[in-house]
Amino acid sequence: MGVSNMKIAAVQMQPRFAQPEKNRILIRRYCERAAKQDVDLLVYPELCVSGYNFVSKDQVFNLAESIPDGPTTTSLINLADQYQLTVVIGIAEREGLNKVFNSSAIVNPRGFVGKYRKIHLFAREKEWFQAGNNPPKVWSLGKAIIGVLVCFDWAFPEATRILMLEGCEILCLPANLVLPYAQLAMISRSIENRLFTILANRIGTERTLTFTGRSQITDTHGKILARSGKDRTGLIVAEIDPRQARNKMLTPTNNIITDRRVDLYHRLLQP
Ligand code: ACM
Repeated sequence: MGVSNMKIAAVQMQPRFAQPEKNRILIRRYCERAAKQDVDLLVYPELCVSGYNFVSKDQVFNLAESIPDGPTTTSLINLADQYQLTVVIGIAEREGLNKVFNSSAIVNPRGFVGKYRKIHLFAREKEWFQAGNNPPKVWSLGKAIIGVLVCFDWAFPEATRILMLEGCEILCLPANLVLPYAQLAMISRSIENRLFTILANRIGTERTLTFTGRSQITDTHGKILARSGKDRTGLIVAEIDPRQARNKMLTPTNNIITDRRVDLYHRLLQP
């Protein structure tokens, strides 16, 4: 591997609904498997400790945990140190006596890095969660600058755009997709922002919802570097040079940042 190369990976799994202990065992096993393949950055699906298709806000609250003090983040901090990797994972996050967010925690060998709270809630998530109120942000983690969104955020290209403008080289997207579009949309997000994407989706059915699998990793030109099937679990891995995402020239004379016509985009900031 070249000096600047790194291995990035997505876990495609089938969490067991409302069985956090069992899911944490699965999560640990994927960390061990990733470490055997020298993975540097590992992304798990959205809500992969609790499951997704809740019946009530009370149910989510009881399955949620705090970040970073809850059991999943605490144990991943130890695993990230033991296996020398960065982990991004989707967790139902509890705050105080009644708030729950659909969050992602980021940890690395130095400990807790940060969290992102999903800002675009999908369908019944509006009954279960509070929407996050902070704009998407990036973290510079040694080998790469990463940004994190959660699942349905894919449908709002502005979110990825903000991350790109903040310097994001690798977009991590923990997901529980039920629509078939995000895999295609991530190809566009890669091309129009010239960044890598890691889409970690789940499989299986929970009551009325079936999840679409097909986790994937794309490069800065939208090429699919690794892809999973629609109903198999496992790890997909790709070796990349994150510095490729610093090249924003779409043609020798077109730069996707400086060619933007911000003088004509005011409408984007109106309701
Ligand atoms: C989704 O945002 N989980 C579809």
